[in-house]
Amino acid sequence: MSEGIILADNLVKIYKSTDIEVVALQGLDLSVEQGELMAIIGSSGSGKSTFLNMLGGLDRPSAGKLFVDGKNLFSMTEKELVEYKRSTVGFVWQNNGRNLLPYLSAYENIMMPMELIGGKERRARADMLLELVGLAHKKHHRMQEMSGGEQQRIAIAIALANQPKILLADEPTGSVDTKTSNYIFDIFRRLNEELGVTIVIVTHDVSLSKKVQRVAAIRDGKISSERILREDFAERVKNTDKTIDWHEAQTQDEFAILDKAGRIQLPQEMLQEMGLDGNKIRVVAADGKIILEKP
Ligand SMILES: Nc1ncnc2c1ncn2[C@@H]1O[C@H](COP(=O)(O)OP(=O)(O)OP(=O)(O)O)[C@@H](O)[C@H]1O
Ligand SMILES: [Mg+2]
Repeated sequence: MSEGIILADNLVKIYKSTDIEVVALQGLDLSVEQGELMAIIGSSGSGKSTFLNMLGGLDRPSAGKLFVDGKNLFSMTEKELVEYKRSTVGFVWQNNGRNLLPYLSAYENIMMPMELIGGKERRARADMLLELVGLAHKKHHRMQEMSGGEQQRIAIAIALANQPKILLADEPTGSVDTKTSNYIFDIFRRLNEELGVTIVIVTHDVSLSKKVQRVAAIRDGKISSERILREDFAERVKNTDKTIDWHEAQTQDEFAILDKAGRIQLPQEMLQEMGLDGNKIRVVAADGKIILEKP
């Protein structure tokens, strides 16, 4: 397999209910290198959560290929899938309520998923994680006594309890304020730099933290473009508080994604500007370039 820790190749997910089928992923191609910190953006219903759920082993893909950490998500048995979810991937949602037990303390919540680890090691790891998310001082507070942002930080610690190689976060800052959101992005950055965890974040935030190296945009269940942070820009803002607005063109290189069948999605704005009436476009090759013209 490829050296990427995540490899999705022409990935398809179809949801079937009694009378309708929804094609949520329509041949998605994406590879993520080990140790990357990247984000996925896209409008509502574009397939972001569907893709993350496939990666997290929460739901099975319908067609295509999906390998994570060398494991084939198509051929995994139920038993292997349970082990995969326990040890290969950690998951954080926007609404963390579902992984936290309100009557238990932060510490007890973090200890919970580590039932297979010995007592001493378990306590040490829980303390280390509390430290990492900046909540060591609230160790014995019950979850219900904590703010939404603090609960979210505990949810991140829980997701890391079993030392997953990959952390998946689905709109982790969707219901917190800007300050908390920045804090959470800083935690992700430190996790990535200090523990080497590969991180994929689904977000609506366009002004992402400067340490996201790559942003992939999903449109209609396919990766339509990828923007990669320019080295020189990354270097310039390193160790500053400046955040990157991914709308600023000079900070990044933007690429459209070409699939194996030679298809690309063109940016909607460009097509509108061209003012096509119909679905035919003239394709001309000239000087090593491919030019698209209105017929
Ligand atoms: N369990 C399901 N059953 C049927 N259709 C589904 C299911 N989950 C998602 N879908 C459909 O699949 C498509 C992609 O949904 P998905 O939740 O992945 O979007 P999203 O990009 O995460 O959107 P949002 O930003 O609103 O969270 C949508 O059309 C959605 O209605
Ligand atoms: Mg979603």
